[in-house]
Amino acid sequence: MDDLRDKYIERIAAAGDEAELEDLRVQAVGKKGEISLKMRELGKMTPEERQVAGPALNALKDEINSALSAKKAALADAALDARLRAEWLDVTLPGRTRAAGSIHPVSQVTEEVTAIFADMGFSVAEGPRIDTDWYNFDALNIPSHHPARAEMDTFYMLRAEGDDRPPHVLRTHTSPVQIRHMEAHGAPCRIICPGGVYRADYDQTHTPMFHQVEGLALDRDISMANLKWVLEEFFAAFFEVDGIKTRFRASHFPFTEPSAEVDIQCSWVDGQLKLGEGDDWLEVLGSGMVHPKVLQAGGVDPEQWQGFAFGMGIDRIAMLKYGIPDLRAFFDSDLRWLRHYGFAALDVPTLRGGLSR
Ligand code: PHE
Repeated sequence: MDDLRDKYIERIAAAGDEAELEDLRVQAVGKKGEISLKMRELGKMTPEERQVAGPALNALKDEINSALSAKKAALADAALDARLRAEWLDVTLPGRTRAAGSIHPVSQVTEEVTAIFADMGFSVAEGPRIDTDWYNFDALNIPSHHPARAEMDTFYMLRAEGDDRPPHVLRTHTSPVQIRHMEAHGAPCRIICPGGVYRADYDQTHTPMFHQVEGLALDRDISMANLKWVLEEFFAAFFEVDGIKTRFRASHFPFTEPSAEVDIQCSWVDGQLKLGEGDDWLEVLGSGMVHPKVLQAGGVDPEQWQGFAFGMGIDRIAMLKYGIPDLRAFFDSDLRWLRHYGFAALDVPTLRGGLSR
Protein backbone atom coordinates (compact mmCIF):
# COMPACT_ATOMS: atom_id res chain seq x y z
CA MET A 1 0.00 0.00 0.00
CA ASP A 2 2.90 2.28 0.74
CA ASP A 3 4.36 1.57 -2.69
CA LEU A 4 1.04 2.39 -4.32
CA ARG A 5 0.80 5.61 -2.36
CA ASP A 6 4.35 6.76 -3.16
CA LYS A 7 3.87 5.95 -6.84
CA TYR A 8 0.67 7.94 -7.24
CA ILE A 9 1.52 10.88 -5.03
CA GLU A 10 4.74 11.33 -6.97
CA ARG A 11 3.08 11.05 -10.38
CA ILE A 12 0.28 13.39 -9.42
CA ALA A 13 2.81 15.97 -8.28
CA ALA A 14 4.64 15.64 -11.60
CA ALA A 15 1.55 15.78 -13.85
CA GLY A 16 1.86 18.51 -16.46
CA ASP A 17 -1.76 19.00 -17.49
CA GLU A 18 -5.33 18.00 -16.74
CA ALA A 19 -5.38 15.15 -19.27
CA GLU A 20 -2.41 13.51 -17.59
CA LEU A 21 -4.09 14.00 -14.23
CA GLU A 22 -7.26 12.35 -15.49
CA ASP A 23 -5.26 9.32 -16.70
CA LEU A 24 -3.74 8.99 -13.26
CA ARG A 25 -7.15 9.22 -11.63
CA VAL A 26 -8.46 6.38 -13.81
CA GLN A 27 -5.38 4.27 -13.14
CA ALA A 28 -5.57 4.75 -9.37
CA VAL A 29 -9.18 5.23 -8.25
CA GLY A 30 -11.15 4.63 -11.47
CA LYS A 31 -13.54 1.61 -11.58
CA LYS A 32 -10.75 -0.68 -12.70
CA GLY A 33 -7.99 1.30 -11.06
CA GLU A 34 -5.35 -0.25 -8.88
CA ILE A 35 -6.91 0.85 -5.63
CA SER A 36 -10.39 -0.24 -6.66
CA LEU A 37 -9.00 -3.67 -7.52
CA LYS A 38 -7.35 -3.84 -4.12
CA MET A 39 -10.70 -3.01 -2.54
CA ARG A 40 -12.28 -5.91 -4.30
CA GLU A 41 -9.68 -8.18 -2.73
CA LEU A 42 -11.06 -7.26 0.68
CA GLY A 43 -13.77 -9.87 0.15
CA LYS A 44 -11.20 -12.64 0.11
CA MET A 45 -9.66 -11.55 3.38
CA THR A 46 -10.40 -12.82 6.88
CA PRO A 47 -12.53 -10.46 8.93
CA GLU A 48 -9.48 -9.57 11.01
CA GLU A 49 -7.37 -8.74 7.98
CA ARG A 50 -10.24 -6.78 6.50
CA GLN A 51 -10.58 -4.68 9.63
CA VAL A 52 -7.04 -3.43 9.14
CA ALA A 53 -6.86 -3.28 5.34
CA GLY A 54 -10.32 -1.71 4.78
CA PRO A 55 -9.81 1.57 6.61
CA ALA A 56 -6.24 1.79 5.33
CA LEU A 57 -7.40 1.43 1.73
CA ASN A 58 -10.15 3.99 2.24
CA ALA A 59 -7.63 6.40 3.75
CA LEU A 60 -5.33 5.85 0.79
CA LYS A 61 -8.18 6.47 -1.62
CA ASP A 62 -9.06 9.69 0.16
CA GLU A 63 -5.45 10.81 0.17
CA ILE A 64 -5.10 10.22 -3.56
CA ASN A 65 -8.40 11.94 -4.32
CA SER A 66 -7.42 15.03 -2.41
CA ALA A 67 -3.97 15.06 -4.04
CA LEU A 68 -5.76 14.88 -7.40
CA SER A 69 -8.07 17.80 -6.66
CA ALA A 70 -5.30 19.91 -5.15
CA LYS A 71 -3.20 19.33 -8.26
CA LYS A 72 -6.20 20.06 -10.46
CA ALA A 73 -6.70 23.42 -8.76
CA ALA A 74 -3.01 24.22 -9.02
CA LEU A 75 -3.05 23.42 -12.75
CA ALA A 76 -6.11 25.63 -13.26
CA ASP A 77 -4.43 28.50 -11.38
CA ALA A 78 -1.31 28.11 -13.48
CA ALA A 79 -3.40 28.06 -16.65
CA LEU A 80 -5.21 31.25 -15.59
CA ASP A 81 -1.90 32.92 -14.75
CA ALA A 82 -0.53 31.99 -18.14
CA ARG A 83 -3.64 33.32 -19.85
CA LEU A 84 -3.55 36.58 -17.91
CA ARG A 85 0.07 37.01 -18.86
CA ALA A 86 -0.64 36.27 -22.52
CA GLU A 87 -3.71 38.50 -22.74
CA TRP A 88 -2.28 41.44 -20.75
CA LEU A 89 -3.21 44.84 -22.07
CA ASP A 90 -1.52 48.14 -21.31
CA VAL A 91 -4.40 50.47 -20.52
CA THR A 92 -1.97 53.28 -19.75
CA LEU A 93 -1.30 53.90 -23.45
CA PRO A 94 -1.07 57.64 -24.10
CA GLY A 95 -4.41 59.25 -25.05
CA ARG A 96 -5.17 60.24 -28.59
CA THR A 97 -4.20 63.76 -29.53
CA ARG A 98 -6.85 66.43 -28.80
CA ALA A 99 -9.45 66.99 -31.47
CA ALA A 100 -8.42 69.91 -33.63
CA GLY A 101 -11.75 71.73 -33.39
CA SER A 102 -12.82 74.04 -30.59
CA ILE A 103 -15.95 75.91 -29.55
CA HIS A 104 -16.01 79.57 -30.58
CA PRO A 105 -16.32 82.02 -27.67
CA VAL A 106 -19.62 83.31 -29.11
CA SER A 107 -21.09 79.79 -29.01
CA GLN A 108 -19.65 79.19 -25.55
CA VAL A 109 -21.04 82.44 -24.14
CA THR A 110 -24.42 81.82 -25.80
CA GLU A 111 -24.54 78.47 -23.99
CA GLU A 112 -23.53 80.11 -20.71
CA VAL A 113 -26.20 82.82 -21.04
CA THR A 114 -28.80 80.19 -21.94
CA ALA A 115 -27.89 78.04 -18.92
CA ILE A 116 -28.24 80.98 -16.53
CA PHE A 117 -31.55 82.22 -17.89
CA ALA A 118 -32.93 78.69 -18.20
CA ASP A 119 -32.34 78.35 -14.47
CA MET A 120 -34.58 81.41 -13.96
CA GLY A 121 -37.34 79.88 -16.08
CA PHE A 122 -36.58 81.51 -19.45
CA SER A 123 -36.75 79.44 -22.64
CA VAL A 124 -35.03 80.14 -25.93
CA ALA A 125 -36.91 81.66 -28.90
CA GLU A 126 -35.53 82.35 -32.35
CA GLY A 127 -36.41 84.43 -35.38
CA PRO A 128 -35.09 84.99 -38.91
CA ARG A 129 -31.99 87.06 -39.58
CA ILE A 130 -33.60 88.46 -42.70
CA ASP A 131 -36.84 90.08 -41.60
CA THR A 132 -39.32 92.63 -42.88
CA ASP A 133 -38.83 96.24 -41.88
CA TRP A 134 -42.20 95.95 -40.13
CA TYR A 135 -40.86 93.43 -37.60
CA ASN A 136 -37.50 95.14 -37.30
CA PHE A 137 -38.87 98.71 -37.00
CA ASP A 138 -42.59 99.54 -37.26
CA ALA A 139 -43.85 96.92 -34.82
CA LEU A 140 -41.23 98.13 -32.36
CA ASN A 141 -42.64 101.65 -32.49
CA ILE A 142 -39.99 102.91 -34.91
CA PRO A 143 -42.02 104.45 -37.79
CA SER A 144 -40.25 105.15 -41.07
CA HIS A 145 -39.50 108.81 -40.36
CA HIS A 146 -37.97 107.93 -36.98
CA PRO A 147 -34.28 108.92 -36.58
CA ALA A 148 -33.54 105.52 -34.95
CA ARG A 149 -33.83 103.93 -38.40
CA ALA A 150 -31.01 106.04 -39.73
CA GLU A 151 -28.93 105.53 -36.57
CA MET A 152 -29.04 101.75 -36.95
CA ASP A 153 -26.97 101.71 -40.20
CA THR A 154 -29.38 99.17 -41.63
CA PHE A 155 -28.57 96.79 -44.48
CA TYR A 156 -31.58 96.73 -46.81
CA MET A 157 -32.21 93.81 -49.17
CA LEU A 158 -32.10 94.91 -52.78
CA ARG A 159 -35.43 94.82 -54.61
CA ALA A 160 -35.91 94.68 -58.34
CA GLU A 161 -37.79 97.60 -59.88
CA GLY A 162 -41.53 96.96 -59.56
CA ASP A 163 -41.14 94.29 -56.86
CA ASP A 164 -43.75 95.36 -54.32
CA ARG A 165 -43.20 92.76 -51.63
CA PRO A 166 -42.58 94.39 -48.25
CA PRO A 167 -39.00 95.61 -47.82
CA HIS A 168 -36.66 93.22 -46.03
CA VAL A 169 -33.64 94.09 -43.93
CA LEU A 170 -30.88 92.18 -42.19
CA ARG A 171 -32.26 92.51 -38.67
CA THR A 172 -30.41 95.24 -36.78
CA HIS A 173 -31.25 93.76 -33.37
CA THR A 174 -32.95 90.73 -31.83
CA SER A 175 -35.98 92.81 -30.74
CA PRO A 176 -38.16 91.68 -33.70
CA VAL A 177 -38.19 88.24 -32.07
CA GLN A 178 -40.23 89.84 -29.26
CA ILE A 179 -43.01 90.58 -31.76
CA ARG A 180 -42.83 87.17 -33.43
CA HIS A 181 -42.96 85.43 -30.09
CA MET A 182 -45.92 87.49 -28.83
CA GLU A 183 -47.80 86.83 -32.08
CA ALA A 184 -47.24 83.10 -31.79
CA HIS A 185 -47.60 82.55 -28.05
CA GLY A 186 -49.10 85.67 -26.44
CA ALA A 187 -48.67 86.44 -22.76
CA PRO A 188 -47.49 85.52 -20.18
CA CYS A 189 -44.01 84.63 -21.39
CA ARG A 190 -40.40 84.43 -20.34
CA ILE A 191 -37.92 84.08 -23.19
CA ILE A 192 -34.45 84.93 -24.34
CA CYS A 193 -33.54 85.16 -28.03
CA PRO A 194 -29.86 84.86 -28.87
CA GLY A 195 -28.67 85.37 -32.42
CA GLY A 196 -26.76 87.26 -35.09
CA VAL A 197 -27.63 90.85 -36.02
CA TYR A 198 -26.27 93.24 -38.66
CA ARG A 199 -25.25 96.89 -38.86
CA ALA A 200 -23.00 98.71 -41.32
CA ASP A 201 -20.22 99.55 -38.91
CA TYR A 202 -16.59 98.48 -38.59
CA ASP A 203 -13.88 99.28 -36.03
CA GLN A 204 -12.20 97.68 -33.00
CA THR A 205 -15.50 97.31 -31.17
CA HIS A 206 -17.91 97.04 -34.12
CA THR A 207 -18.34 94.42 -36.85
CA PRO A 208 -21.07 94.35 -39.53
CA MET A 209 -22.38 91.12 -38.01
CA PHE A 210 -22.44 90.58 -34.27
CA HIS A 211 -24.59 88.81 -31.67
CA GLN A 212 -27.23 89.89 -29.24
CA VAL A 213 -29.42 88.20 -26.72
CA GLU A 214 -32.89 89.63 -26.23
CA GLY A 215 -34.90 89.05 -23.08
CA LEU A 216 -38.67 89.36 -22.72
CA ALA A 217 -40.79 88.69 -19.64
CA LEU A 218 -44.53 89.45 -19.68
CA ASP A 219 -47.07 88.93 -16.96
CA ARG A 220 -49.74 90.90 -15.12
CA ASP A 221 -47.52 92.68 -12.63
CA ILE A 222 -43.90 92.53 -13.85
CA SER A 223 -41.96 95.68 -12.98
CA MET A 224 -38.54 97.30 -13.31
CA ALA A 225 -37.68 95.72 -9.95
CA ASN A 226 -38.01 92.26 -11.53
CA LEU A 227 -35.80 93.42 -14.39
CA LYS A 228 -33.14 94.62 -11.98
CA TRP A 229 -33.18 91.39 -9.97
CA VAL A 230 -33.00 89.18 -13.06
CA LEU A 231 -30.10 91.16 -14.52
CA GLU A 232 -28.17 91.22 -11.25
CA GLU A 233 -28.62 87.47 -10.87
CA PHE A 234 -27.44 87.07 -14.42
CA PHE A 235 -24.30 89.19 -14.07
CA ALA A 236 -23.29 87.58 -10.77
CA ALA A 237 -23.60 84.12 -12.33
CA PHE A 238 -22.05 85.05 -15.67
CA PHE A 239 -19.04 86.97 -14.39
CA GLU A 240 -18.80 84.71 -11.34
CA VAL A 241 -18.68 87.69 -8.97
CA ASP A 242 -21.20 87.60 -6.11
CA GLY A 243 -23.00 90.88 -5.50
CA ILE A 244 -21.67 92.59 -8.64
CA LYS A 245 -23.19 96.10 -8.72
CA THR A 246 -25.30 97.41 -11.57
CA ARG A 247 -26.27 100.97 -12.46
CA PHE A 248 -29.48 101.79 -14.28
CA ARG A 249 -29.21 105.00 -16.30
CA ALA A 250 -32.34 106.59 -17.73
CA SER A 251 -32.20 106.30 -21.51
CA HIS A 252 -34.46 106.15 -24.53
CA PHE A 253 -35.57 103.35 -26.83
CA PRO A 254 -38.74 103.69 -28.93
CA PHE A 255 -39.86 100.20 -27.88
CA THR A 256 -39.57 100.61 -24.10
CA GLU A 257 -40.96 103.13 -21.62
CA PRO A 258 -39.33 103.83 -19.27
CA SER A 259 -35.96 102.79 -20.67
CA ALA A 260 -32.65 102.22 -18.98
CA GLU A 261 -29.15 101.49 -20.05
CA VAL A 262 -27.41 99.19 -17.62
CA ASP A 263 -23.79 99.48 -16.53
CA ILE A 264 -21.80 97.06 -14.41
CA GLN A 265 -19.25 97.96 -11.79
CA CYS A 266 -15.59 97.75 -12.87
CA SER A 267 -12.13 99.10 -12.30
CA TRP A 268 -9.34 100.05 -14.67
CA VAL A 269 -5.93 99.50 -13.09
CA ASP A 270 -2.83 99.85 -15.31
CA GLY A 271 -4.95 99.33 -18.39
CA GLN A 272 -6.36 96.12 -16.82
CA LEU A 273 -10.15 95.87 -16.64
CA LYS A 274 -11.59 94.16 -13.55
CA LEU A 275 -15.31 93.50 -13.18
CA GLY A 276 -17.27 93.64 -9.94
CA GLU A 277 -14.90 96.00 -8.13
CA GLY A 278 -13.83 99.65 -8.23
CA ASP A 279 -15.94 102.69 -9.06
CA ASP A 280 -15.95 102.83 -12.83
CA TRP A 281 -18.91 101.68 -14.90
CA LEU A 282 -19.16 99.78 -18.15
CA GLU A 283 -22.28 99.80 -20.30
CA VAL A 284 -23.51 96.32 -21.13
CA LEU A 285 -27.11 96.51 -22.28
CA GLY A 286 -30.29 98.39 -23.08
CA SER A 287 -33.58 97.61 -21.37
CA GLY A 288 -36.93 98.89 -20.16
CA MET A 289 -40.62 98.20 -19.75
CA VAL A 290 -42.15 97.03 -23.03
CA HIS A 291 -43.99 99.94 -24.71
CA PRO A 292 -47.80 99.46 -24.91
CA LYS A 293 -47.65 99.98 -28.69
CA VAL A 294 -45.17 97.11 -28.95
CA LEU A 295 -47.46 94.82 -26.95
CA GLN A 296 -50.31 95.84 -29.25
CA ALA A 297 -48.25 95.13 -32.37
CA GLY A 298 -47.59 91.65 -30.97
CA GLY A 299 -51.32 91.13 -30.32
CA VAL A 300 -50.99 91.38 -26.54
CA ASP A 301 -53.46 93.57 -24.62
CA PRO A 302 -51.49 96.31 -22.79
CA GLU A 303 -54.43 96.77 -20.39
CA GLN A 304 -53.84 93.25 -19.09
CA TRP A 305 -50.16 92.58 -19.53
CA GLN A 306 -46.90 94.34 -18.93
CA GLY A 307 -43.28 93.34 -18.73
CA PHE A 308 -39.66 94.07 -19.34
CA ALA A 309 -37.30 93.57 -22.26
CA PHE A 310 -33.57 93.87 -22.63
CA GLY A 311 -30.96 93.50 -25.35
CA MET A 312 -27.36 92.64 -24.62
CA GLY A 313 -24.29 92.20 -26.83
CA ILE A 314 -23.05 88.60 -26.61
CA ASP A 315 -19.68 89.34 -28.22
CA ARG A 316 -19.31 92.28 -25.88
CA ILE A 317 -19.76 90.26 -22.69
CA ALA A 318 -17.56 87.51 -24.16
CA MET A 319 -14.77 90.08 -24.63
CA LEU A 320 -15.23 91.27 -21.04
CA LYS A 321 -15.35 87.84 -19.45
CA TYR A 322 -12.49 86.26 -21.37
CA GLY A 323 -10.29 89.33 -21.85
CA ILE A 324 -10.49 89.38 -25.64
CA PRO A 325 -9.34 92.81 -26.84
CA ASP A 326 -10.50 93.08 -30.48
CA LEU A 327 -14.01 92.23 -31.67
CA ARG A 328 -12.94 91.93 -35.31
CA ALA A 329 -10.80 88.87 -34.50
CA PHE A 330 -14.01 86.99 -33.57
CA PHE A 331 -14.89 86.74 -37.24
CA ASP A 332 -11.46 86.40 -38.89
CA SER A 333 -11.46 82.56 -38.67
CA ASP A 334 -7.80 82.70 -37.70
CA LEU A 335 -6.96 79.22 -36.38
CA ARG A 336 -4.34 80.53 -33.98
CA TRP A 337 -6.94 82.83 -32.39
CA LEU A 338 -9.51 80.01 -32.25
CA ARG A 339 -6.99 77.69 -30.58
CA HIS A 340 -6.16 80.34 -28.04
CA TYR A 341 -9.66 81.54 -27.18
CA GLY A 342 -11.68 78.45 -28.15
CA PHE A 343 -13.26 76.03 -25.70
CA ALA A 344 -12.99 72.25 -25.52
CA ALA A 345 -15.88 70.65 -27.35
CA LEU A 346 -17.10 68.63 -24.37
CA ASP A 347 -17.01 71.44 -21.78
CA VAL A 348 -20.72 72.16 -21.97
CA PRO A 349 -21.45 75.01 -19.55
CA THR A 350 -23.97 74.26 -16.81
CA LEU A 351 -24.75 76.06 -13.56
CA ARG A 352 -23.72 73.02 -11.56
CA GLY A 353 -20.70 71.87 -13.56
CA GLY A 354 -19.25 75.35 -13.99
CA LEU A 355 -19.84 78.00 -16.59
CA SER A 356 -16.30 78.58 -17.76
CA ARG A 357 -13.07 76.63 -17.84
N1 PHE B 1 -32.69 96.52 -29.32
C1 PHE B 1 -31.86 97.42 -28.55
C2 PHE B 1 -30.51 97.58 -29.28
O1 PHE B 1 -30.20 96.83 -30.14
C3 PHE B 1 -31.61 96.90 -27.18
C4 PHE B 1 -32.85 96.82 -26.35
C5 PHE B 1 -33.63 95.68 -26.36
C6 PHE B 1 -33.27 97.89 -25.57
C7 PHE B 1 -34.80 95.60 -25.59
C8 PHE B 1 -34.40 97.83 -24.81
C9 PHE B 1 -35.16 96.68 -24.80
O2 PHE B 1 -29.75 98.47 -28.96
